[in-house]
Amino acid sequence: MQMRSRIAVAPMMDWTDRHCRYFLRLLSPSAFLYTEMVTAAAIHHGDAERFLQYNKDEHPIALQLGGSNPEWMASATRKAAAYGYDEININVGCPSDRVQSGQFGACLMASPTTVADCFRAMREQADTPVTVKTRIGIDDRDSYDFLKTFVDALVEAGCRKFVVHARIAILDGLSPKDNRTVPPLNYERVYRLKREYPDLEVVINGGLADVHQVDEVLQHVDGAMIGRQAYHQPYFLAELEHHFNPDRSLPERREIVEQMLPYIDSVVAAGVPLARVTRHMLGLFAGQPGARAWRRYISEHAHVHGAGTEVLVNALNSMPLAAQTATMQAIRRT
Ligand SMILES: Cc1cc2nc3c(=O)[nH]c(=O)nc-3n(C[C@H](O)[C@H](O)[C@H](O)COP(=O)(O)O)c2cc1C
Repeated sequence: MQMRSRIAVAPMMDWTDRHCRYFLRLLSPSAFLYTEMVTAAAIHHGDAERFLQYNKDEHPIALQLGGSNPEWMASATRKAAAYGYDEININVGCPSDRVQSGQFGACLMASPTTVADCFRAMREQADTPVTVKTRIGIDDRDSYDFLKTFVDALVEAGCRKFVVHARIAILDGLSPKDNRTVPPLNYERVYRLKREYPDLEVVINGGLADVHQVDEVLQHVDGAMIGRQAYHQPYFLAELEHHFNPDRSLPERREIVEQMLPYIDSVVAAGVPLARVTRHMLGLFAGQPGARAWRRYISEHAHVHGAGTEVLVNALNSMPLAAQTATMQAIRRT
């Protein structure tokens, strides 16, 4: 079974920035990676290069856009297409107040025509596939029919891929964080969508935390998108990669650190503070002996002015001997 596009890493604001994605790509050569949400307004009016640049090793990569103004969404798509993104995804899932006041995110589930207008305007700008990430409902509109009405409008506009976070969004009175745990998961509604629209590509999202669960959902839908588990325990992505592509051996966690070093050298030389990269690597040894020493050393030393890759080498050295393997011996001695 080919893993490409079966497994995706979710868009996560402040988390899945380009440094994070570079790191996750080393753990999973084929998972589809999504950027943090970028507003169409920021790209349309602002410094597009700042929001759109990425490392070519991040492919396959999707840009997630937030917005509801077809003209701005089209303009952002046109600029993004020049950067070679593999997909452009419309955010119809985020429930934060900031997002609602800008009239985009999850509240747009109630305005399918607006999203369809955006979709059409975007499609005219580029050949890049445009997709939608949505919830299964909002507030008291918690029914399959509500989801279906939304999907129908987008299908009519030509959308062929939906990523569905399998819980409703509660727009009033629940923080974005609580909106990822309080409304219960309802995978069955997503499975039904796939059953009734077999030609659509349906990717399920929400609460996937082990290989067995991912196997199970993939009996029903085309793809699985992983969010928090991929960030807190990134090695999960390596396990998934190995599970779906057994020819790919499981990498040593230390090899991943080693492969990050040249990248970190280059971005630090370009002026990026070390901690901005290493903060994404804190969970690499989660559940392993020495995980706490790893985290602690990095947390205490990566912020120091002028810090570089030696912090990671020393962090490995700070782990108990039992947790160390030969892989990094050479580096440890330098
Ligand atoms: C810190 C954080 C930031 C997020 N930012 C976005 C975002 O920018 N766009 C989006 O569509 N979803 C966002 N989400 C939601 C995730 O994409 C995903 O739908 C959600 O976390 C459920 O998946 P999970 O249970 O695998 O984490 C965010 C989630 C987290 C934890």
